[in-house]
Amino acid sequence: MNLKGRDYLTLADFNCEEIWCLLELAQDLKQKQKAGISHQRLKGKTLAMIFQKASTRTRVSFETGMFHLGGLAMFLSGNDLQIGRGEPIEDTARVLSRYVDGILIRTFSHQEVLDLAKYADVPVINGLTDEFHPTQALADLLTIWEYFGTLAGIKLAYIGDGNNMVHSLMLAGAIMGLEVTAACPEGYEPNPEVVAKAQSLASQPEKIKVVREPQEAVQGAQVLYTDVWASMGQEGEAAERRQAFANYQINTELLSQAEKEAIVMHCLPAHRGEEITAEVLEGPQSVVFDEAENRLHAHKAILAALF
Ligand code: CP
Ligand code: NVA
Repeated sequence: MNLKGRDYLTLADFNCEEIWCLLELAQDLKQKQKAGISHQRLKGKTLAMIFQKASTRTRVSFETGMFHLGGLAMFLSGNDLQIGRGEPIEDTARVLSRYVDGILIRTFSHQEVLDLAKYADVPVINGLTDEFHPTQALADLLTIWEYFGTLAGIKLAYIGDGNNMVHSLMLAGAIMGLEVTAACPEGYEPNPEVVAKAQSLASQPEKIKVVREPQEAVQGAQVLYTDVWASMGQEGEAAERRQAFANYQINTELLSQAEKEAIVMHCLPAHRGEEITAEVLEGPQSVVFDEAENRLHAHKAILAALF
């Protein structure tokens, strides 16, 4: 399987076989790293990383991943680049393509990422937009696969905001054969176009659905997933959202209604007492730090495959 030169913009750009290829590569690189075997397969390669929003995991795992693979990553804050002073993304794309072997971008508008990819001659990786978070979803698939030994047929319940995270989980689930049910309050549902796209990619459209009640979503679920109520850029809506999402919390009571062996996932950063209780986040069913670790291994696979 050759993914060399491809962009990584949304999971919908890849088929099941290609995603399995990335997951197997991630697992192989993880095992090699744990065994102390270094793989300098990106020696001499460089990655430009444009961040228009904050990041802990994405930034540090990609930077570390490039270093592990023998390459170099450059952190470029949007404010310090000429983008911040109005240089068009098309020009930035063409200039950076003359210097580096790949570009990662975290920004607000998904269209900006599409424009960057259109004008760049090197692979572009979406490090999160308001609409999608596909690198996180790959790490999540890796985590679910590690815990259950399979992906097909796993039931994932997402509780909370119909945001970038659930969009990427729906696409990932649809392609890889998971059932994804999102429980969201009225007015905060996922984008219907993304839901329809995920349904069209699923073996059966009803495997991807949106419901109102968290209790309905968690019936039979092996994975409970949540994310912040107010994403980056929505800080001004935080108070209003706290009210709208009050019943959309993963707590012991909700967890007790899922499958007994269910795992709890969160892309992080978490707000204890809002979308998840401290008890559940720190409890025995939470895999959030394994999930966070898997960002590193999944990202190394993306870098190794695309460059
Ligand atoms: N989950 C995630 O993307 O974390 P960061 O915002 O810290 O990169
Ligand atoms: N939905 C969150 C994810 C953070 C990793 C946000 O966009 O802020």
